[in-house]
Amino acid sequence: MDKIVVAIDGPAAAGKSTVAKKVAKVLGCTYIDTGAMYRAITYFALKNNVNPQCEDDVVDLLPKIDLELKANSKVFLNGQDITQDIRLPDVSQNVSYVASYKAIRLHLVDLQRKMANSKSVVMDGRDIGTYVLPNADVKIFQVASVETRAARRHKENLQHGIKCKLEDIEAELRKRDFIDSSRTFAPLKPAPDSVVLDTSDLTIDEAVQAVLKVIKDKGHDWSKRNE
Ligand code: DC
Repeated sequence: MDKIVVAIDGPAAAGKSTVAKKVAKVLGCTYIDTGAMYRAITYFALKNNVNPQCEDDVVDLLPKIDLELKANSKVFLNGQDITQDIRLPDVSQNVSYVASYKAIRLHLVDLQRKMANSKSVVMDGRDIGTYVLPNADVKIFQVASVETRAARRHKENLQHGIKCKLEDIEAELRKRDFIDSSRTFAPLKPAPDSVVLDTSDLTIDEAVQAVLKVIKDKGHDWSKRNE
């Protein structure tokens, strides 16, 4: 199979990363979690007592940040493994502000395009099909009801030992959806040529199979990858 670029966008906690990771494994290509990059900058701001809602101060941090996404989905910032830290509630509650700053987006989009330039990737985010990789071979817009997403995220947090209330998670998701989709630069929205996949009533495996079917229907056969 030739080089393939798959874009998976959608609102927070729609299960994009779980599905994207599994699809990448089947295709034998690299998975790139772009949300982790916005989270890393948010984490760095909080760690340095910079208010994430103060655009100029957050943008000033960029030259001090060396970000690395490893093949095993580990996130390193200035050589330190911050994979777990970027999932903390404080980061989740503030990341949408940081992701709305144009200078931050331009910086990260540049890195994202470079990562997808020379190899096959499955990249998930909010603006991958519309802005980062508009020529992606396959574009999926993965959605689920806010109630389903909140219940999934709540369960996930408890499994990771993060205490939280279901109603707080739902309120946070609604707020993030609003900020992500109403920002002026590269907002969350389906690309006109994307396939919308509602996973509210699907298992993870069913969602993965649905994405693989879209890829196959577009004429990409991963079983021939090494031919
Ligand atoms: O997918 P996630 O929840 O880890 O994303 C964290 C935040 O980053 C989310 O609120 C929106 C933002 N984001 C974005 O604006 N563009 C992307 N390509 C990926 C994430």
